[in-house]
Parts: sequence; C-alpha cells; structure tokens
Amino acid sequence: MTGATVIDHPLVQHKLTHMRMKDTSTQGFRRLLREIAVLLTYEVTRDLPITTTEIETPLQPMNAPVIEGKKLVFASVLRAGNGLLEGMLELVPAARVAHVGLYRDPKTLQPVEYYFKAPEGMAERLVIVVDPMLATANSAIAAVQRLKEAGATQLRFLCLLAAPEGIEKFIAAHPDVPVFTAAIDAGLNEKSYILPGLGDAGDRMYGTK
Ligand code: PRP
Ligand code: URA
Repeated sequence: MTGATVIDHPLVQHKLTHMRMKDTSTQGFRRLLREIAVLLTYEVTRDLPITTTEIETPLQPMNAPVIEGKKLVFASVLRAGNGLLEGMLELVPAARVAHVGLYRDPKTLQPVEYYFKAPEGMAERLVIVVDPMLATANSAIAAVQRLKEAGATQLRFLCLLAAPEGIEKFIAAHPDVPVFTAAIDAGLNEKSYILPGLGDAGDRMYGTK
C-alpha cells in the first residue's frame, strides 16, 4: 500500500526530524512547520498548468510563462493546518484561503465541526487541503467532504505525517484526491496517535495540552 506521494527532499526530512524531537520548543516547532510548508508547497504545485502572456522586458517583448487558471485555494483544517498555511502563503501570497474548523473527539475519534468558510468560485479553483496529521483520516475525509459540498471539484490533500491506515481510508473515501506527505509512519497507537509521529501537532504548535 502507499497511494500517497512522499516528498522526500533532504531539507524536508531534516526539518521533520527536528519537529519530531520531544525537546523542540513551541517556537522552534512553529518555525520548522512554516519552513517545511514552503518546501512542500513547491512540490505539490510542481505540475500546475502553465500558459504564456505577452510582456515587455527592458530590452524586448516576449511570451513569458505564467500559471494558468484562477487563483489557488489553500484550505486549512484548524487548528494545526494554520501552521502549514503560513508558509504556503509566503510562497503563493495571492492564494485564496478556506478554513475548516474541526477537532477530533478523543473518545469517538470522530470530527466535530465548529467553523467553515470558503471563497467564491471553488468549482473553478485547485483546492489544496492542509493538515499536518493524517491519522485515522476521519478529520481529512470530513474536511474534503465539506469542501466538495461547497463546490470544490479539484482537490489535493497535503500533510506532514500519515499513518498507512489513514492513507488507505482516505483514498477509499476520496479516490479523486491525491495525497502528498513528507513521511508515512509505522501506524497508530491505542489512542490513534501516529507512531513514532511527533505528538499532538496543534498542542506542540500552540503550547497547549
Ligand atoms: C489533529 C490533526 C488532524 C487530526 C488528525 O487535530 O491536526 O486534524 O487530529 O486525526 P485523524 O486523522 O484521526 O482525524 P485535532 O483534532 O487535535 O485538532 P487541533 O488541530 O485543533 O489540535
Ligand atoms: N493528531 C495529532 O496531532 N497527532 C497524531 O498523532 C494524531 C492525531
């Protein structure tokens, strides 16, 4: 099984290792997440369609490449998705942003939605859904479902760490949505945390418990 694209760039892997370390500070964790997001975004947008536009350099006119189509949407699954979003917007400042507010109920492991807002024109835009962790995949499946209900037709899912069982479940639920991740870990523990993982991404980003 994989079904997901693993972004194995050495800088991504090096930064991820520092994020996994239990003694990495909240400040360090946030900085690494922002930096890694830039690299992941570079890879996840690698095949965007290009068109050309007529411009004038100081020396002569030319037909120069630009990205085709409407502005991208980055859809952040709150809270932890916001850590990735920050770095993504550094690379693509004109992107539109959707927010999907979900938390995973620790007992049922089912997502509980508390907020949703998406830009206009979802059907005509590529939507990149971001959340650092794909564990049971319940949150990611619900977030993508909600975005499809808001009109999204063309989506990608980007995370930092994924469990094999999460990838399998996500692909079964949304076979039309490619998954990109920096690593596929061994599996889930009895509380459905990713092992070896990095702990609770939201708590490590914001210094909560
Ligand atoms: C974490 C993570 C994902 C979800 C993954 O969020 O950011 O959204 O858990 O788990 P799953 O694949 O089993 O659904 P959490 O619910 O802890 O919320 P937070 O981002 O607000 O901390
Ligand atoms: N959510 C997290 O933040 N970490 C995990 O390992 C699983 C779900």
